[in-house]
Amino acid sequence: MIPRKLEPEAMDSPEEAQAYDAMNHAAVNERFVADFLAVHGPCRGGEILDVGTGTARIPIELCRVDSRARVLAVDLSESMIALATANVRAAGLGDRIRCRPADAKSLRLAGPGFEAVVSNSIVHHIPEPTTVLREVSRLAAPGGTVFVRDLARPTSEFELARLVELYTGGESERGRSLFEDSLRAALTVGEVASLIENLGLPSAGVKMTSDRHWTWIWQRPERG
Ligand SMILES: C[S@@+](CC[C@H](N)C(=O)[O-])C[C@H]1O[C@@H](n2cnc3c(N)ncnc32)[C@H](O)[C@@H]1O
Repeated sequence: MIPRKLEPEAMDSPEEAQAYDAMNHAAVNERFVADFLAVHGPCRGGEILDVGTGTARIPIELCRVDSRARVLAVDLSESMIALATANVRAAGLGDRIRCRPADAKSLRLAGPGFEAVVSNSIVHHIPEPTTVLREVSRLAAPGGTVFVRDLARPTSEFELARLVELYTGGESERGRSLFEDSLRAALTVGEVASLIENLGLPSAGVKMTSDRHWTWIWQRPERG
C-alpha cells in the first residue's frame, strides 16, 4: 500500500490559478457533466452547488449542456474565484453562475437546500476529508443529488508509474510531477467508502469509475 502524502490545500497564488486554468481538462469536465446528468436527470431550475470549483470550467460546461442549470461555484482560493468570475463573464453566464470564496470544510450555508451538490478533484487536497463530505451531504435538498469525484490513490508503485506514464507521458516534467503528487495525496476508494459509512450514509454509492477516479453518488431521500 502506498502511504498518503498530502499536497498544499488551496491553490492560492494567481500564477497557480492561471497555470491550472491553462491546462486542458475539457474531456474530463465533459465526462463529469455527462455522468452527473445521467444520474440526476435534467436540471430542475434550482441552484446547484459546485464545491472547490477552481476556475468554474465545470459550471460553465454544465450550463452549456443544460439550459436550466444554475450554479453557486465556491472555492477556498481567492485567485481561483477571480479567474472563475472572469471565465463566467466571458462565457456570458453571469446571470446563471455565482462565484464566491468559501471553505468547503465549513460552508456557512443554510441547508439542505441545493438541487444538487457536485465536486470534482478537491478531496485529495483536504487533510481530513470527513468535514467536507459531511458539508456536501448536508447541503443537498430532499430528492437532490450528491455527485463527488476525485483521483484514487493507486495501490502499488507499479500502477502509479503506469498511470503517470499513460496520462502525462507527453507532458513536461512539471506536469508529470503535479499528477504524481495528486495521485499520492488522493484517498483509495476503500478509504472514501469507510468515511461515507462513518457519516451514516450508504457506502455502496462509492465506486471506481475509471482507472484513476472514484465517484460518490448519493440521492437524499424525499422524506426522512
Ligand atoms: C484540482 S482543483 C479542481 C478544480 C475544479 N473542481 C475542476 O475540476 O477543475 C482543486 C480546487 O480545490 C480547491 N480547494 C482546496 N481546498 C478547498 C477547500 N477547503 N474549500 C474550497 N475549495 C478548496 C483549490 O483551491 C482548487 O481550486
